Amino acid sequence: MQAIVLVGGEGTRLRPLTYGTPKPMVPIMNVPFLARTLERLYEAGIRDVILPAGYMPQAIVDYFGDGSRLDMTITYVIEETPLGTAGALKNVEEHITGRFFVLNGDVLTSLDLQAMLRYHEEKGGLGTLHLIPVDDPSAFGCVVHDQTGLVSAFVEKPPRDQAPTNEINAGTYLLELEILKEIPAGRNVSIERETFPQVIAAGEKLYAYTTNDYWIDVGRPEQYLAAHRDILSGSMPLKLEPGLTGPGSDALKGHPGVVPPIHAAGDVVVDPTASIGPNVVLGKGCSLGARVVVRESVLWDRVSVGPGTHIEEAIVASGVTIGPEARIGKGSVIGHDVTIEPGQVLEAGSRVGPAPSTALPTT
Ligand code: GTP
Repeated sequence: MQAIVLVGGEGTRLRPLTYGTPKPMVPIMNVPFLARTLERLYEAGIRDVILPAGYMPQAIVDYFGDGSRLDMTITYVIEETPLGTAGALKNVEEHITGRFFVLNGDVLTSLDLQAMLRYHEEKGGLGTLHLIPVDDPSAFGCVVHDQTGLVSAFVEKPPRDQAPTNEINAGTYLLELEILKEIPAGRNVSIERETFPQVIAAGEKLYAYTTNDYWIDVGRPEQYLAAHRDILSGSMPLKLEPGLTGPGSDALKGHPGVVPPIHAAGDVVVDPTASIGPNVVLGKGCSLGARVVVRESVLWDRVSVGPGTHIEEAIVASGVTIGPEARIGKGSVIGHDVTIEPGQVLEAGSRVGPAPSTALPTT
Protein backbone atom coordinates (compact mmCIF):
# COMPACT_ATOMS: atom_id res chain seq x y z
CA MET A 1 0.00 0.00 0.00
CA GLN A 2 1.27 3.47 -0.93
CA ALA A 3 0.53 6.92 0.42
CA ILE A 4 0.97 10.24 -1.28
CA VAL A 5 1.42 13.17 1.08
CA LEU A 6 0.83 16.50 -0.62
CA VAL A 7 3.62 18.81 0.47
CA GLY A 8 3.93 21.29 -2.38
CA GLY A 9 1.85 24.21 -1.11
CA GLU A 10 3.43 27.58 -0.34
CA GLY A 11 1.67 27.83 3.00
CA THR A 12 0.81 31.50 2.48
CA ARG A 13 -1.48 31.60 5.51
CA LEU A 14 1.40 30.66 7.79
CA ARG A 15 3.66 33.45 6.57
CA PRO A 16 6.12 34.71 7.70
CA LEU A 17 6.96 31.27 9.21
CA THR A 18 6.87 29.67 5.76
CA TYR A 19 9.33 32.17 4.28
CA GLY A 20 12.06 30.22 6.05
CA THR A 21 10.49 26.79 6.57
CA PRO A 22 8.17 24.92 4.19
CA LYS A 23 4.88 24.02 5.90
CA PRO A 24 5.63 20.27 6.19
CA MET A 25 8.78 21.14 8.15
CA VAL A 26 7.04 23.51 10.56
CA PRO A 27 7.51 21.88 13.97
CA ILE A 28 4.71 20.36 16.00
CA MET A 29 5.97 19.79 19.54
CA ASN A 30 9.50 20.39 18.24
CA VAL A 31 9.34 17.76 15.48
CA PRO A 32 8.61 18.59 11.79
CA PHE A 33 4.93 18.15 11.07
CA LEU A 34 5.64 15.75 8.22
CA ALA A 35 7.51 13.43 10.62
CA ARG A 36 4.29 13.16 12.65
CA THR A 37 2.38 12.25 9.50
CA LEU A 38 4.94 9.65 8.42
CA GLU A 39 4.77 8.14 11.91
CA ARG A 40 1.00 7.69 11.49
CA LEU A 41 1.50 6.05 8.11
CA TYR A 42 4.11 3.73 9.57
CA GLU A 43 1.75 2.72 12.37
CA ALA A 44 -0.88 1.91 9.72
CA GLY A 45 1.60 -0.42 8.04
CA ILE A 46 2.40 1.90 5.12
CA ARG A 47 6.08 2.02 4.19
CA ASP A 48 5.98 3.37 0.62
CA VAL A 49 5.46 7.14 0.49
CA ILE A 50 5.49 9.55 -2.44
CA LEU A 51 6.02 13.24 -1.73
CA PRO A 52 4.96 15.65 -4.50
CA ALA A 53 6.81 18.78 -3.45
CA GLY A 54 7.61 22.13 -5.01
CA TYR A 55 8.06 24.86 -2.45
CA MET A 56 11.46 24.69 -0.68
CA PRO A 57 11.73 20.94 -1.32
CA GLN A 58 15.39 20.73 -0.34
CA ALA A 59 14.57 21.27 3.33
CA ILE A 60 12.30 18.21 3.17
CA VAL A 61 14.79 16.05 1.26
CA ASP A 62 17.64 17.02 3.60
CA TYR A 63 15.66 15.92 6.67
CA PHE A 64 14.00 12.71 5.46
CA GLY A 65 16.38 11.53 2.72
CA ASP A 66 15.29 8.28 1.11
CA GLY A 67 13.28 7.36 4.21
CA SER A 68 15.51 4.46 5.24
CA ARG A 69 16.11 6.03 8.68
CA LEU A 70 12.37 5.58 9.26
CA ASP A 71 12.31 2.13 7.67
CA MET A 72 10.29 3.63 4.80
CA THR A 73 10.84 4.33 1.13
CA ILE A 74 10.30 7.97 0.17
CA THR A 75 10.08 9.08 -3.46
CA TYR A 76 10.19 12.81 -4.16
CA VAL A 77 8.71 14.36 -7.26
CA ILE A 78 9.40 18.07 -7.55
CA GLU A 79 6.95 20.31 -9.43
CA GLU A 80 8.44 23.22 -11.34
CA THR A 81 5.16 25.07 -11.08
CA PRO A 82 2.41 24.13 -8.61
CA LEU A 83 0.11 21.51 -10.15
CA GLY A 84 -2.65 21.63 -7.54
CA THR A 85 -3.93 18.82 -5.35
CA ALA A 86 -4.96 16.54 -8.26
CA GLY A 87 -2.33 17.68 -10.78
CA ALA A 88 0.27 16.63 -8.20
CA LEU A 89 -1.16 13.08 -8.22
CA LYS A 90 -1.21 12.87 -12.00
CA ASN A 91 2.40 14.00 -12.00
CA VAL A 92 3.47 11.03 -9.84
CA GLU A 93 1.40 8.48 -11.80
CA GLU A 94 4.43 6.49 -12.93
CA HIS A 95 5.25 5.72 -9.28
CA ILE A 96 1.76 4.57 -8.28
CA THR A 97 1.22 0.84 -8.40
CA GLY A 98 -2.35 0.38 -7.12
CA ARG A 99 -4.86 1.67 -4.60
CA PHE A 100 -3.34 4.56 -2.63
CA PHE A 101 -3.95 6.97 0.24
CA VAL A 102 -3.68 10.72 -0.30
CA LEU A 103 -3.05 12.95 2.69
CA ASN A 104 -3.08 16.72 2.80
CA GLY A 105 0.24 17.58 4.34
CA ASP A 106 -1.18 19.96 6.93
CA VAL A 107 -3.85 17.87 8.64
CA LEU A 108 -3.38 16.64 12.19
CA THR A 109 -5.86 13.87 12.96
CA SER A 110 -6.33 10.70 14.96
CA LEU A 111 -8.06 9.01 12.00
CA ASP A 112 -7.50 5.23 11.85
CA LEU A 113 -6.28 4.62 8.30
CA GLN A 114 -6.74 0.85 8.52
CA ALA A 115 -10.40 1.30 9.52
CA MET A 116 -10.83 3.61 6.54
CA LEU A 117 -9.30 0.97 4.29
CA ARG A 118 -11.77 -1.66 5.55
CA TYR A 119 -14.67 0.72 4.90
CA HIS A 120 -13.38 1.43 1.39
CA GLU A 121 -13.16 -2.29 0.65
CA GLU A 122 -16.74 -2.81 1.87
CA LYS A 123 -18.10 0.02 -0.28
CA GLY A 124 -16.07 -0.69 -3.38
CA GLY A 125 -16.16 2.81 -4.90
CA LEU A 126 -13.55 4.60 -6.96
CA GLY A 127 -12.61 6.51 -3.86
CA THR A 128 -13.37 7.11 -0.19
CA LEU A 129 -13.14 10.56 1.38
CA HIS A 130 -12.66 11.18 5.08
CA LEU A 131 -15.22 13.69 6.39
CA ILE A 132 -15.45 15.47 9.74
CA PRO A 133 -18.53 17.21 11.15
CA VAL A 134 -17.83 20.82 12.22
CA ASP A 135 -19.95 23.53 13.87
CA ASP A 136 -19.39 26.05 11.11
CA PRO A 137 -18.64 24.60 7.66
CA SER A 138 -18.52 27.98 5.89
CA ALA A 139 -14.72 28.02 5.61
CA PHE A 140 -14.51 24.47 4.22
CA GLY A 141 -15.56 22.21 1.37
CA CYS A 142 -18.85 20.49 2.28
CA VAL A 143 -19.51 16.98 0.99
CA VAL A 144 -23.13 15.84 0.59
CA HIS A 145 -23.91 12.11 0.74
CA ASP A 146 -26.82 9.73 1.32
CA GLN A 147 -27.29 7.24 4.15
CA THR A 148 -25.15 4.64 2.43
CA GLY A 149 -22.30 7.15 2.23
CA LEU A 150 -22.60 7.67 -1.53
CA VAL A 151 -21.42 11.20 -2.35
CA SER A 152 -23.77 13.34 -4.45
CA ALA A 153 -22.35 16.88 -4.31
CA PHE A 154 -19.47 19.12 -3.31
CA VAL A 155 -20.22 22.61 -2.06
CA GLU A 156 -17.21 24.85 -1.52
CA LYS A 157 -17.33 27.34 1.38
CA PRO A 158 -21.13 27.85 1.58
CA PRO A 159 -22.60 30.69 3.68
CA ARG A 160 -23.27 29.14 7.09
CA ASP A 161 -27.09 29.36 6.84
CA GLN A 162 -27.09 27.78 3.38
CA ALA A 163 -24.70 24.90 4.04
CA PRO A 164 -26.30 21.64 2.87
CA THR A 165 -24.38 19.67 5.51
CA ASN A 166 -21.87 20.28 8.30
CA GLU A 167 -19.65 17.42 7.10
CA ILE A 168 -16.48 18.69 5.50
CA ASN A 169 -13.71 17.24 3.38
CA ALA A 170 -11.02 16.42 5.93
CA GLY A 171 -8.18 15.98 3.43
CA THR A 172 -7.55 12.21 3.55
CA TYR A 173 -8.59 10.10 0.57
CA LEU A 174 -8.29 6.46 -0.40
CA LEU A 175 -8.36 6.16 -4.17
CA GLU A 176 -8.25 3.49 -6.82
CA LEU A 177 -5.58 3.80 -9.49
CA GLU A 178 -8.24 4.32 -12.20
CA ILE A 179 -9.10 7.77 -10.85
CA LEU A 180 -5.89 9.07 -12.40
CA LYS A 181 -7.53 8.72 -15.84
CA GLU A 182 -9.92 11.52 -14.82
CA ILE A 183 -7.08 13.99 -14.18
CA PRO A 184 -5.63 15.92 -17.12
CA ALA A 185 -1.82 16.02 -17.26
CA GLY A 186 0.43 19.03 -17.37
CA ARG A 187 -1.72 21.67 -15.73
CA ASN A 188 -2.94 22.78 -12.31
CA VAL A 189 -5.95 20.68 -11.23
CA SER A 190 -7.76 20.83 -7.88
CA ILE A 191 -9.01 17.49 -6.61
CA GLU A 192 -11.76 19.00 -4.48
CA ARG A 193 -13.03 21.55 -7.01
CA GLU A 194 -12.48 19.72 -10.28
CA THR A 195 -11.68 16.02 -10.10
CA PHE A 196 -14.16 14.81 -7.46
CA PRO A 197 -17.17 16.71 -8.92
CA GLN A 198 -16.21 15.43 -12.39
CA VAL A 199 -15.97 11.84 -11.13
CA ILE A 200 -19.47 11.83 -9.66
CA ALA A 201 -20.89 13.66 -12.70
CA ALA A 202 -19.52 10.79 -14.79
CA GLY A 203 -21.52 8.32 -12.65
CA GLU A 204 -18.53 6.91 -10.76
CA LYS A 205 -18.94 6.23 -7.05
CA LEU A 206 -17.22 8.10 -4.26
CA TYR A 207 -18.04 7.28 -0.64
CA ALA A 208 -17.93 9.43 2.47
CA TYR A 209 -16.24 8.06 5.58
CA THR A 210 -17.39 10.30 8.42
CA THR A 211 -15.73 10.02 11.81
CA ASN A 212 -15.56 12.04 15.01
CA ASP A 213 -11.79 11.85 15.24
CA TYR A 214 -9.63 14.69 16.39
CA TRP A 215 -8.98 16.81 13.30
CA ILE A 216 -7.35 20.16 12.67
CA ASP A 217 -5.76 21.86 9.66
CA VAL A 218 -2.62 23.45 11.08
CA GLY A 219 -2.24 25.78 8.09
CA ARG A 220 -3.21 28.95 9.97
CA PRO A 221 -1.48 30.46 13.03
CA GLU A 222 -4.57 30.20 15.27
CA GLN A 223 -4.99 26.54 14.33
CA TYR A 224 -1.29 25.89 14.78
CA LEU A 225 -1.49 27.17 18.36
CA ALA A 226 -4.79 25.34 18.94
CA ALA A 227 -3.18 22.07 17.78
CA HIS A 228 -0.43 22.53 20.36
CA ARG A 229 -2.95 23.28 23.11
CA ASP A 230 -4.87 20.14 22.17
CA ILE A 231 -1.75 17.97 22.15
CA LEU A 232 -0.56 19.43 25.46
CA SER A 233 -3.98 18.85 27.07
CA GLY A 234 -4.18 15.33 25.67
CA SER A 235 -7.28 15.88 23.50
CA MET A 236 -5.15 15.09 20.42
CA PRO A 237 -3.40 11.81 21.29
CA LEU A 238 0.29 12.01 20.39
CA LYS A 239 1.78 9.51 22.80
CA LEU A 240 3.01 12.23 25.15
CA GLU A 241 2.48 12.30 28.88
CA PRO A 242 0.59 15.34 30.15
CA GLY A 243 2.41 17.90 32.32
CA LEU A 244 6.02 18.82 31.89
CA THR A 245 7.55 16.92 28.96
CA GLY A 246 10.47 16.84 26.56
CA PRO A 247 14.22 16.49 26.94
CA GLY A 248 14.46 19.94 28.52
CA SER A 249 11.84 19.31 31.16
CA ASP A 250 14.39 18.34 33.83
CA ALA A 251 15.72 21.90 33.75
CA LEU A 252 12.23 23.16 34.60
CA LYS A 253 11.32 20.74 37.36
CA GLY A 254 10.89 22.53 40.69
CA HIS A 255 11.01 25.93 38.97
CA PRO A 256 8.61 28.21 40.90
CA GLY A 257 7.29 30.00 37.79
CA VAL A 258 6.42 26.95 35.72
CA VAL A 259 2.75 26.17 35.03
CA PRO A 260 2.28 22.94 33.02
CA PRO A 261 1.52 21.75 30.47
CA ILE A 262 4.86 22.67 28.93
CA HIS A 263 7.02 20.82 26.40
CA ALA A 264 10.70 21.76 26.30
CA ALA A 265 13.48 20.61 23.99
CA GLY A 266 17.04 20.27 25.23
CA ASP A 267 19.43 23.05 26.21
CA VAL A 268 16.77 25.49 27.39
CA VAL A 269 17.81 28.08 29.94
CA VAL A 270 15.08 29.70 32.03
CA ASP A 271 15.79 32.34 34.66
CA PRO A 272 14.41 31.42 38.12
CA THR A 273 12.27 34.58 38.12
CA ALA A 274 10.66 33.86 34.72
CA SER A 275 7.08 32.68 34.49
CA ILE A 276 6.13 30.13 31.81
CA GLY A 277 2.96 28.31 30.93
CA PRO A 278 0.45 26.99 30.62
CA ASN A 279 0.53 25.63 27.07
CA VAL A 280 4.05 26.59 26.09
CA VAL A 281 6.49 24.79 23.80
CA LEU A 282 10.17 25.73 23.93
CA GLY A 283 12.52 24.68 21.12
CA LYS A 284 16.12 23.59 21.50
CA GLY A 285 18.44 26.20 22.96
CA CYS A 286 15.79 28.77 23.95
CA SER A 287 16.77 31.17 26.69
CA LEU A 288 14.37 33.21 28.80
CA GLY A 289 15.73 36.02 30.95
CA ALA A 290 14.67 37.41 34.33
CA ARG A 291 10.95 38.21 34.82
CA VAL A 292 10.06 37.00 31.33
CA VAL A 293 6.44 35.87 30.98
CA VAL A 294 5.50 33.35 28.27
CA ARG A 295 1.97 31.97 28.01
CA GLU A 296 0.08 29.94 25.38
CA SER A 297 2.94 30.23 22.89
CA VAL A 298 5.24 28.16 20.72
CA LEU A 299 8.89 29.19 20.49
CA TRP A 300 11.00 27.34 17.93
CA ASP A 301 14.75 26.71 18.32
CA ARG A 302 17.24 29.27 19.66
CA VAL A 303 14.81 31.99 20.63
CA SER A 304 16.41 34.43 23.04
CA VAL A 305 14.08 36.51 25.20
CA GLY A 306 15.47 39.47 27.16
CA PRO A 307 14.54 40.35 30.76
CA GLY A 308 11.04 41.62 31.48
CA THR A 309 9.53 40.68 28.11
CA HIS A 310 5.97 39.33 27.88
CA ILE A 311 4.86 36.89 25.15
CA GLU A 312 1.28 35.70 24.91
CA GLU A 313 -0.44 33.45 22.33
CA ALA A 314 2.41 33.95 19.88
CA ILE A 315 4.49 31.85 17.48
CA VAL A 316 8.19 32.72 17.34
CA ALA A 317 10.37 31.11 14.66
CA SER A 318 13.96 29.92 15.04
CA GLY A 319 16.79 32.28 15.79
CA VAL A 320 14.64 35.22 16.93
CA THR A 321 16.08 37.66 19.45
CA ILE A 322 13.64 39.65 21.54
CA GLY A 323 15.10 42.57 23.47
CA PRO A 324 14.33 43.33 27.10
CA GLU A 325 10.95 44.73 28.20
CA ALA A 326 9.23 44.01 24.88
CA ARG A 327 5.51 43.17 24.61
CA ILE A 328 4.45 40.55 22.08
CA GLY A 329 0.68 40.85 21.64
CA LYS A 330 -1.75 37.96 21.29
CA GLY A 331 -1.78 36.27 17.92
CA SER A 332 1.60 37.65 16.85
CA VAL A 333 3.77 35.62 14.49
CA ILE A 334 7.50 36.37 14.28
CA GLY A 335 9.54 34.92 11.39
CA HIS A 336 13.07 33.48 11.36
CA ASP A 337 16.01 35.40 12.78
CA VAL A 338 14.06 38.60 13.37
CA THR A 339 15.28 40.98 16.08
CA ILE A 340 12.67 42.69 18.24
CA GLU A 341 14.11 45.85 19.79
CA PRO A 342 14.23 46.52 23.54
CA GLY A 343 10.88 47.89 24.69
CA GLN A 344 9.23 47.25 21.31
CA VAL A 345 5.48 46.61 21.46
CA LEU A 346 3.91 44.29 18.89
CA GLU A 347 0.17 44.87 18.66
CA ALA A 348 -2.13 41.84 18.77
CA GLY A 349 -2.06 39.91 15.51
CA SER A 350 1.27 41.36 14.30
CA ARG A 351 3.23 39.48 11.67
CA VAL A 352 6.89 40.32 11.58
CA GLY A 353 9.16 38.52 9.20
CA PRO A 354 12.20 38.52 7.01
CA ALA A 355 11.63 40.23 3.66
CA PRO A 356 10.15 37.66 1.24
CA SER A 357 12.51 38.77 -1.53
CA THR A 358 15.48 37.57 0.45
CA ALA A 359 13.85 34.51 1.92
CA LEU A 360 11.80 32.80 -0.73
CA PRO A 361 14.14 30.18 -2.11
CA THR A 362 12.40 27.42 -4.00
CA THR A 363 15.06 24.86 -3.28
P1 GTP B 1 -2.03 28.22 1.82
O1 GTP B 1 -1.20 28.93 0.81
O2 GTP B 1 -1.87 28.80 3.18
O3 GTP B 1 -3.47 28.05 1.42
O4 GTP B 1 -1.44 26.74 2.01
P2 GTP B 1 -1.14 25.63 0.88
O5 GTP B 1 -0.40 26.23 -0.24
O6 GTP B 1 -0.44 24.51 1.58
O7 GTP B 1 -2.55 25.18 0.36
P3 GTP B 1 -3.61 24.21 1.00
O8 GTP B 1 -3.55 24.30 2.50
O9 GTP B 1 -4.91 24.43 0.37
O10 GTP B 1 -3.08 22.79 0.52
C1 GTP B 1 -3.53 21.58 1.03
C2 GTP B 1 -2.40 20.56 0.92
O11 GTP B 1 -2.08 20.36 -0.45
C3 GTP B 1 -1.14 21.01 1.59
O12 GTP B 1 -0.56 19.88 2.18
C4 GTP B 1 -0.27 21.54 0.46
O13 GTP B 1 1.12 21.34 0.70
C5 GTP B 1 -0.73 20.70 -0.71
N1 GTP B 1 -0.70 21.41 -1.97
C6 GTP B 1 -1.42 22.52 -2.30
N2 GTP B 1 -1.16 22.88 -3.57
C7 GTP B 1 -0.25 22.00 -4.05
C8 GTP B 1 0.42 21.85 -5.30
O14 GTP B 1 0.25 22.61 -6.24
N3 GTP B 1 1.29 20.81 -5.42
C9 GTP B 1 1.53 19.94 -4.40
N4 GTP B 1 2.40 18.95 -4.61
N5 GTP B 1 0.92 20.04 -3.21
C10 GTP B 1 0.04 21.06 -3.03
